[in-house]
Amino acid sequence: MNALRRGREALEALRAIPLFSSVRDEDLEPIASLLIERRFPKHKTIVEEGLPGDYMYIIREGRVQVSKLSDDGREKILEFLDAGDFFGEMSLLDNAPRSASVRALAESRVLALSRADFLTVLRRSPDLAMAVVQELTRRLRQIDEQASSLSFQRVKERTKGLLVRLAREDVAHSDRRMTPALTHQQIADMIGTSRETVTRALKGLKEHGWLQQEGKKYLVPVDD
Ligand code: CMP
Repeated sequence: MNALRRGREALEALRAIPLFSSVRDEDLEPIASLLIERRFPKHKTIVEEGLPGDYMYIIREGRVQVSKLSDDGREKILEFLDAGDFFGEMSLLDNAPRSASVRALAESRVLALSRADFLTVLRRSPDLAMAVVQELTRRLRQIDEQASSLSFQRVKERTKGLLVRLAREDVAHSDRRMTPALTHQQIADMIGTSRETVTRALKGLKEHGWLQQEGKKYLVPVDD
């Protein structure tokens, strides 16, 4: 395939990609000529966590998985990315090692852009820079949501643990045990969170049928 045809094809593909949708034609053409098409078979690691970054990638076809190794050696999946998405930009922007690994889940066709070219086109095209910033903002929002729901889950678990511990002394009830009278503020102070969060956690535990309430006392299942 000659370079011109490759360039034209890449340009067409770029127009369909959200990252490039608002980039002006005169900025897009030089970018198209810098992109290198690469194919990765299923299961192939495209980017490896901890290594230096050399290229960023835009998915033309296929599906990849972004994952990170946790301290105990388990793999945590961060995201799945599909056609039109991009990855590998972070280490090019901040010069730090790859933040995660990216592996092909299906045979994938990608457009690769070297570090130097990526930085050059970002500087030349404010539209492209803005599109990258917008996508990074979207990812950050998603992570913030996950973090707050994770910490709320932990509050729920801590509330459960506390109520079970406080109800342990109760022998009067057979299928459930009763805690002493407790205010939401007292529970909050004991598990180190806010009263409002405890109110929300108790509501959730009641809605799931795990918890019952009698006045200021709580009934918890015996097995927990
Ligand atoms: P980089 O750090 O160069 O290499 C790994 C890539 O995974 C990273 O750039 C991002 O493109 C991508 N990545 C890391 N974290 C996330 C995330 N939470 N959601 C989507 N993509 C991510």
